[in-house]
Amino acid sequence: MNYVQVEKLGEGTYATVYKGRSRATNEIVALKEIHLDAEEGTPSTAIREISLMKELKHVNIVRLYDVIHTETKLVLIFEYCDRDLKKYMDLNGDRGALDPVTVRSFMYQLLKGTAFCHENRVLHRDLKPQNLLINRKGELKLGDFGLARAFGVPVNTFSNEVVTLWYRAPDVLMGSRTYSTSIDIWSCGCIFAEMISGVPIFRGRDNQDQLLHIMRIVGTPDERTLRKIATEGQIDPANANKQYPRYPKIPFSQVLPKASPQALDLLERLLQFDPSKRITAAEALSHPYFTGSIPFGLPGPVPGSMGPPAYNYPHPHSHQQQQMQHQQQQQQAQAQAHAAYVQAQGGMMHPQHGQTSAFAAQQDPVRLAQAQQAQAQAQAQAQAQAQAQAHAQAQAMAMAQAQAQAQGQGQPMMGYAPPYPQQYATGGR
Ligand SMILES: Nc1ncnc2c1ncn2[C@@H]1O[C@H](COP(=O)(O)OP(=O)(O)O)[C@@H](O)[C@H]1O
Ligand SMILES: [Mg+2]
Repeated sequence: MNYVQVEKLGEGTYATVYKGRSRATNEIVALKEIHLDAEEGTPSTAIREISLMKELKHVNIVRLYDVIHTETKLVLIFEYCDRDLKKYMDLNGDRGALDPVTVRSFMYQLLKGTAFCHENRVLHRDLKPQNLLINRKGELKLGDFGLARAFGVPVNTFSNEVVTLWYRAPDVLMGSRTYSTSIDIWSCGCIFAEMISGVPIFRGRDNQDQLLHIMRIVGTPDERTLRKIATEGQIDPANANKQYPRYPKIPFSQVLPKASPQALDLLERLLQFDPSKRITAAEALSHPYFTGSIPFGLPGPVPGSMGPPAYNYPHPHSHQQQQMQHQQQQQQAQAQAHAAYVQAQGGMMHPQHGQTSAFAAQQDPVRLAQAQQAQAQAQAQAQAQAQAQAHAQAQAMAMAQAQAQAQGQGQPMMGYAPPYPQQYATGGR
């Protein structure tokens, strides 16, 4: 093979993953070795599915560069990332919990990658922190997929460890046969909650226990809802008739007291028990959680650590809109004050009497004073607003600079040069 194994990175569901180096170019890649059953070999469908992944090119999806197929193993050559989200949270989090700026950046990227998959009719089916990879630029990438599609969702891992059910949607736990994009959305919700609090939100031991963990927080759906879901083919009808303990819903604000109201609102929309009510990834990307601003003064990423990239949220655009709106308001206030002033000065129709009141106004010192006061007030208001805006802008810039500095402490990163990345050619981890 043209690659040398440098070190073992992880052992997962089907395979062992190594950090590898190309003998020819010295480039660093991730090698995922899937051991094949000597008798069965690789099903051709698996190879076809995996090869399809090569076409799924997006900044938030781990690039699959190549597939090498030998008699005893299948080796997938991937873009190298520094660590998975689980390790990132363990290393950089506060007892696993990430700061709000990082949570928002990672959540945005997770939904971007997921939306891209769904647009391309690909379901991930196994989204969880261990399958999300973070590189030095703070880019989050969906990894470990294609395999779920190619081999089906596994029950046991390669090392005989039970696959985690913690991110699995309730409809899947109840035997759904019509897997749809909503199952990935549920997982995104679970990951969101975990990044905020540092601990997985639903930790069941087995299928049934997992379902009860979910119901204990989101509440047991009523029989009508369960029947509705069943008739839509989302769950096994046998499960819809089962008797479940009646748990009331616990508000997410109690489960995650640290989360902002906007974060909680998005979470609520992601973690809907009824799959048809779950928000889509594309819709979630324009949720106010991403378009609004994060309150300043919240702790940012630790300097020198892998911070989130200064991501292009939709908010710079809405910020422009806000600015335009603000300008319009200012102009309106000024125009009003001016009109009042002119009116008081005379020369315009008096609205109440419907007659020219130039003389009357000039004669009316009270009205004149009122108009002058209105103008002064509007001006002061406009000035204060402009000042507040300038202040917010300065803070945003300072934060962006601090972030850029923190990132700059690592090696400068270049864009990927296809077909293999150049930037890790000499650098270590
Ligand atoms: N491209 C990569 N770069 C760096 N580490 C990776 C990469 N791909 C996988 N890993 C590490 O290996 C682990 C297992 O890989 P994964 O693709 O999830 O395999 P499995 O299907 O066996 O779960 C991941 O959780 C991650 O820690
Ligand atoms: Mg995995």
